[in-house]
Amino acid sequence: MREADAHPWMNPDLSPDQRAELVLQAMTQEEKFRLLRTEYGDRHPRPAGALGSAGYQPAITRLGLPAIQESDAGLGVAKPLDVGATALPSGLATAASFDPALAYEGGAMIGGEAHRRGFNVMLAGGADLVRDPRNGRNFEYAGEDPLLAGMIVGNAIAGIQSQHVVSTIKHFALNDLETARNTLSANIDRAAARESDLLAFEIAIEIGHPGSVMCSYNRINSVYACENEWLLDQVLKHDWHYKGFVMSDWGAVHSAAKSALAGLDQESAGETFDKEVYFDKPLRAAVASGEVPQSRIDDMARRILRSLFAAGVIDHPAKPAPIDFDADRKVAQRVAEAGAVLLRNRDSLLPLSAAQSVAVIGGHADRGVLTGGGSSAVQSPQGNAVPGAEPVDWPGPRIYQPSAPLAAIEKRAHSKVIFADGKDIAAAAQLAARSDVAVVFVEQWAAESFDLPTLALPDNQDALVEAVAKANPRTIVVLETNGPVAMPWLTQVGAVLEAWYPGAAGGESIARLLYGEVNPSGRLPVSWPRDASQLPRPQIPGAGLAAIGLPPRGKPAQDVDYNIEGADVGYRWYQRKHFEPLFPFGYGLTYTQFEYSGFEAHLKGGQVTASFTVTNHGSREGIDVPQLYVTQPGAGRVRRLAGWCRVALKPGQSAHLTVTADPRLLVDFDSRGQRWQRPAGAFLLQLGHSATSFQGQGKVTLTAANWPADAAPTGVLQACD
Ligand code: BGC
Repeated sequence: MREADAHPWMNPDLSPDQRAELVLQAMTQEEKFRLLRTEYGDRHPRPAGALGSAGYQPAITRLGLPAIQESDAGLGVAKPLDVGATALPSGLATAASFDPALAYEGGAMIGGEAHRRGFNVMLAGGADLVRDPRNGRNFEYAGEDPLLAGMIVGNAIAGIQSQHVVSTIKHFALNDLETARNTLSANIDRAAARESDLLAFEIAIEIGHPGSVMCSYNRINSVYACENEWLLDQVLKHDWHYKGFVMSDWGAVHSAAKSALAGLDQESAGETFDKEVYFDKPLRAAVASGEVPQSRIDDMARRILRSLFAAGVIDHPAKPAPIDFDADRKVAQRVAEAGAVLLRNRDSLLPLSAAQSVAVIGGHADRGVLTGGGSSAVQSPQGNAVPGAEPVDWPGPRIYQPSAPLAAIEKRAHSKVIFADGKDIAAAAQLAARSDVAVVFVEQWAAESFDLPTLALPDNQDALVEAVAKANPRTIVVLETNGPVAMPWLTQVGAVLEAWYPGAAGGESIARLLYGEVNPSGRLPVSWPRDASQLPRPQIPGAGLAAIGLPPRGKPAQDVDYNIEGADVGYRWYQRKHFEPLFPFGYGLTYTQFEYSGFEAHLKGGQVTASFTVTNHGSREGIDVPQLYVTQPGAGRVRRLAGWCRVALKPGQSAHLTVTADPRLLVDFDSRGQRWQRPAGAFLLQLGHSATSFQGQGKVTLTAANWPADAAPTGVLQACD
């Protein structure tokens, strides 16, 4: 029999829906149940056929369905660790680029490596909002703003899936802290959730069409995410018309019938991480008793099949193939260079000149650059640049990419470059005193499963920076951190560059930025607090002060009150509270200077737009990110990012640009009426260099309007012409 006769769903001319339906019709109940769960692929011993990564499901050869091989995560192929892969910089670095096309490119790079390793599902797409700079997984996410996070993550997902690999989006939803993540209840008003964290997911899903959504560990308003009918069935599948499948996080399932009826479609690695495999015997029993209808089982299987067809997993099977690591490293380098944020540059200390002698201090800069820990950690094919660094066990190992800033600086300097590891503070200060400039690398390791106990840098690094800066005020600090940290020495140093965890080519990228081969263009995707008292929760509920930041001691709180800030996450919170952050969202310096003029606000064809001219007044080519913020009419409203441009300009060059405000940022969710509504009145439009510094504003008057919950206003998704 010909393939097309035996397996009519192999006809690529049919739609993914038609193909999934045809397979479903041919399936036995046993085969359907096989689809509803994966196993832990990295178990000891490994399941036969598994590649040794996060998830595995055997092939159903009779139907021509391949094995499902799942790997973490959004920064590259994490496992098997010893095989290695190209590490992208932190998600926050990609977000700081404000460049959706670059996010797509990064996604395509890691998706391509996944496919060439034989994986067909990537557990990527971290879209939880940064509500707290101490959250241990911020480096996997895309910042505090729903439009920015949605645009960046959606494009990264689209990039991954362009390589015939299903991507997830995760962790759905409000898994915004790691402390007690398996039990805590994220308590939040539903409308506020829709306008913040859920909006980021909604936008990312609309752009990226991820084949799967991973429900998170935590509870939301008391109900576990993976059995939360409101979240999965009503919001995701009904209101957003989501056609893919919901898979659980590893150990996030607590029931069979309740989860299945709420909208969970696939249980991940339940045999290893859940109390029992709920989607095997217990779910079969629930079907037999009539508690779960057969139609729901069919729906679960159909959704999984549909996503496999839609991403091209069936038509373009993943199989081992050579990887061009040099080309992939270049992608990581572009992201690192576009995403690093220059926070301070007193008297134009940067860029460095080759003639200067340099003291390079601390941060293992002689070996490589830091990587965040947990399931997303990627190790280079060349191995860990600092093997044995603590902690070596979960959520370690602590991994460094072998891209040493020291070597990259040496390549550029024509004068002496000397390294001190920083352990001997006096020796480091002496070295700084006899060098033209000192570059101090500081690090803050963060990882999945715990939050950082404080904003302070660990290991006495503040004392190191202070001593070096005292010895030589021409001190530049390079931060390799999870995100914002306290910088008590800020005014004593000349320059600060936030490099995040800068990925596979981090050392080279940092050196290129320091020497002005590239002009810094990153803008903060998070607000930078002066201290923890400015945060909605000065203390993370339940977080103890563990010595090096490993899992906190003390009893975790079971409830986290996100109603404190509600939808006003990040810069909105600062505005509401009249707090002045240390550095605002959207902020970032360059080696040139941009000015805005001729601002005009318009209402055209129902769309709110702002046009203006941006001019490069400096002497270097550079990239600017003019940001459009909108404030709704009425008392107590705070501004929201509604669009932006990313524009490259030569010295003296100008560009006339128009940004269209995304209509989702003009509306609020009305829970009682189950609709989005736009108030009538004058909307304030402000053109920002950041969320607090404006050059140009105007008003546009709109009429009231509303849209049902399942037909939110759509249409723009970040436009700059
Ligand atoms: C993480 C997920 C990850 C999964 C599989 C969980 O601990 O929360 O992000 O995809 O493990 O490794």
